[in-house]
Amino acid sequence: SAQRTFTIAAIPADGVGTEVVAAGRAVLDALAAGSGGRFAFDWTEFPWGCGYYEKTGRMMDEDGLETLQDFDALYFGAVGWPSVPDHVSLWGLRLRICQSFDQWANVRPVHFHPGIISPLRKAEDTSLDWVVVRENSEGEYAGLGGRNLAGRGPGNEVALQTALFTEKGCERIMRFAFDLARGRERKKVSSVTKSNAQQYGMVLWDEVFERVAADYPDVETESVLVDAMSAKFVLHPEDLSVVVASNLNADILSDLGSALAGSLGLAASANLNPDRRFPSMFEPVHGSAPDIAGRGLANPIGAIGSAALMLEHFGLTDEATRVREAIEATTASGLLTPDVGGTAKTDEIVEAILTHLA
Ligand code: NAI
Ligand code: MG
Repeated sequence: SAQRTFTIAAIPADGVGTEVVAAGRAVLDALAAGSGGRFAFDWTEFPWGCGYYEKTGRMMDEDGLETLQDFDALYFGAVGWPSVPDHVSLWGLRLRICQSFDQWANVRPVHFHPGIISPLRKAEDTSLDWVVVRENSEGEYAGLGGRNLAGRGPGNEVALQTALFTEKGCERIMRFAFDLARGRERKKVSSVTKSNAQQYGMVLWDEVFERVAADYPDVETESVLVDAMSAKFVLHPEDLSVVVASNLNADILSDLGSALAGSLGLAASANLNPDRRFPSMFEPVHGSAPDIAGRGLANPIGAIGSAALMLEHFGLTDEATRVREAIEATTASGLLTPDVGGTAKTDEIVEAILTHLA
């Protein structure tokens, strides 16, 4: 038996989620099979998602969180299907897991691959690579608020959606970003703010950023308004290394980043509980893509890249590098799914990555 067995809960959920999770599992299982018994992965797959909701009225089992708690990591696909309102499916599964397991740091690298044409003209002559660090436990997705609070009824409804910013929540994600920056070639953290318009939460965000920055004199900093940062992603991406942002701002910016790299299907992400009191969750940035689901067209690179982030989390850094190199070799060879201009199917990409690994 293997020297070290990692238990992983797979939650493919909906649409292309099932296709890309199968792809990532194939890559991880191939690595384990070739490890000469150094490590193994013990998978348990859960059927939760919108199909499960239609049958049971629940997005996941009632005791699902207790079940998941004991795994070394969670590997997630994507949740959401037209049959269930998106706020029900997202809050019932993915956000429930992220918030209950205090996965407060969401790491989303923006990585450009050889052989994939970026819509960003600058990508042709620069080697671009930055990472969005998303506050993943509070901010605009704290779930605070309500509807029809004053009983005003149809036609006169009032809704409040309140953002929550705590000094502790801001501080821990910013320290995380600075620590990450220290390990990178370019030691820089860009804080994304909107304190000109949001005078309470975002001003606190700015103050904490200044205070934390003082502890990292070796790291360059800047504070940029979110609208200006979206322009900067396009116009001066070479000036970015680590970008730290609140829950909503980072959600939007990371989709922009993956689109600049060529497709939403390329982007990987880790929802980390850095304290390691709970399992962390690894998932592609994209959603369930109902428009292409079930046809073998999904780009598996975001999910496989997320599996590489999981390998890093397990301390298997050489293996993570090997997976990334196999992805690069595959895109460089011109084998691409339709979202990035090719004609290859999901399975063909997985086969090519497995060949490059072996
Ligand atoms: P989406 O990410 O599913 O799709 C946006 C576009 O990107 C579509 O044209 C889709 O075909 C394409 N795309 C996404 N992943 C791809 C892949 N792996 N390969 C090739 N093309 C890919 O976002 P959308 O359409 O806004 O949402 C669809 C559903 O997914 C909704 O129910 C939404 O709530 C849910 N969602 C779930 C997320 C999660 O579970 N983390 C994140 C984002 C959306
Ligand atoms: Mg998103």
